[in-house]
Amino acid sequence: MSDKLYIFDTTLRDGEQVPGCQLNTVEKIEVAKALEILGVDIIEAGFPVSSPGDFNSVVEISKAVIWPTICALTRAVEKDIEIAADALKYAKKGRIHTGIGTSHYHIHYKLNSNPEAILERAVAAVKYAKRFVEDVEFYAEDAGRSDNVYLAKVVEAVIKAGATVVNIPDTTGYCLPHQYGEKIKFLMENVKGVHNAILSTHCHNDLGMATANTIAGVMNGARQAEVTINGIGERAGNTSLEEVVMTLKSHDLKIDTSVNTKKIYKTSRMIASLMNMPVQANKAIVGRNAFAHSSGIHQDGVLKHRENYEIIDPKDVGIDESSIVLTARSGRAALKNRLELLGFKLNKEKLDKAYEEFLKLADKKKEINDDDVALLVGDIRKEDRRIKLDFLQVVSGKSLTPMATVRLNIAGEVFCATMAGNGPVDATIKAIKAIIHRKTVLHEFLIQAITRGSDDIGKVHMQVVFEDKVYYGFGAHTDIVTASAEAFIDAINKMSPAGNSLVNSEQVQMVNVE
Ligand code: KIV
Ligand code: ZN
Repeated sequence: MSDKLYIFDTTLRDGEQVPGCQLNTVEKIEVAKALEILGVDIIEAGFPVSSPGDFNSVVEISKAVIWPTICALTRAVEKDIEIAADALKYAKKGRIHTGIGTSHYHIHYKLNSNPEAILERAVAAVKYAKRFVEDVEFYAEDAGRSDNVYLAKVVEAVIKAGATVVNIPDTTGYCLPHQYGEKIKFLMENVKGVHNAILSTHCHNDLGMATANTIAGVMNGARQAEVTINGIGERAGNTSLEEVVMTLKSHDLKIDTSVNTKKIYKTSRMIASLMNMPVQANKAIVGRNAFAHSSGIHQDGVLKHRENYEIIDPKDVGIDESSIVLTARSGRAALKNRLELLGFKLNKEKLDKAYEEFLKLADKKKEINDDDVALLVGDIRKEDRRIKLDFLQVVSGKSLTPMATVRLNIAGEVFCATMAGNGPVDATIKAIKAIIHRKTVLHEFLIQAITRGSDDIGKVHMQVVFEDKVYYGFGAHTDIVTASAEAFIDAINKMSPAGNSLVNSEQVQMVNVE
């Protein structure tokens, strides 16, 4: 008989903390439903006290999702716990995840406290959370660098106070696999009452060991793993769901999960697209090259017998190896099929639009891969935004002053401005700023190519500051100036209030477009 490993997905909390990965509530519900279909046991839906948006997302996800437990994060602070309990009021099964730092660093330099006081706060937080929900998880932040004897004392006390799950995070991704495994073993052997709760792993990937540490923890008794899709998360990320699940499926460790592995690829693509976070090509399980064999010897070996060079059947993670490439000759049905495989369901009107855009892109790029398709859909979704880029023309060259003419459609009205700049992107941003009446400062501007070659799609991430708040913008296009304009407009859309007050009427022309 196999043991069950509970899969706790924190894509919507630890994953969503990543700059540029922020989702709106509708998108979060879409992700939560995909996680439910994937078969995760617990969805960490947010940190309700952190913002009204996070609170609302936890409320709406609680309403939308049926089977998984919905979890809300708090600090060991009464107000946080009350707000989390309120956000969880519609959850069929709700869990409060509360905790505090237990390492020397956190106790002394973050919390300015001492071990005894921290232990008291930990117990008090669990007891307080128990007033609102039965299922309370406690996290001992920076447990990876915490002294094992003190950690065991804390774990024992919080279990006695009613914690149903105790999370042992390697918050800084510092542990080696044998150290993390020994930590879990030590707790399993030295905490009185440890069998009254489940120990959970929560590993960060700063040294690239998050999955190895998680598996070491599981092999030593942890029965919940905290993971994210594609391993996204703070800094170098969290343990990736697909790696843990497929490791357990590939090795006979007598530990299973409830994840439907055939949905892994689809969910991975959906997260990559919604969060504007492409998956690196050589990423285990879900990277573009994870099942690609390029050397002649390997190709020959795979053709003779797939298992010569593959430990996982791509079909087990939902990859249909035969249909990766789309070209200008592909029909609407092929695009629809690919979109569905990637987890996107578009209505007829949106599919027509996607196909139109697909053909334009296929004319520019010989092969359309899954990243391109996902970006295309992202563009179609942008159509619902209030401010849209209607037209862009740039003139630039070696001995020319770069000039850009931008036309924006703002809630149905079209405005136009032309500006000069020190380069085509600068001129374009200045022209947009001439139309939009907002004192914005561009904080970060990052251009990346998705694959390779001069026909590639360029991705632009921007951080735009307006009234002391940072807004993230994303744009993708084969033309990098257009991608930059789209990224800037994306950020502005996130800040724009209703009404036309955002238009700088002195500098722009209203244009009549037939
Ligand atoms: O990494 C960490 O310690 C966390 C906790 C808040 C669970 O994310
Ligand atoms: Zn974390």
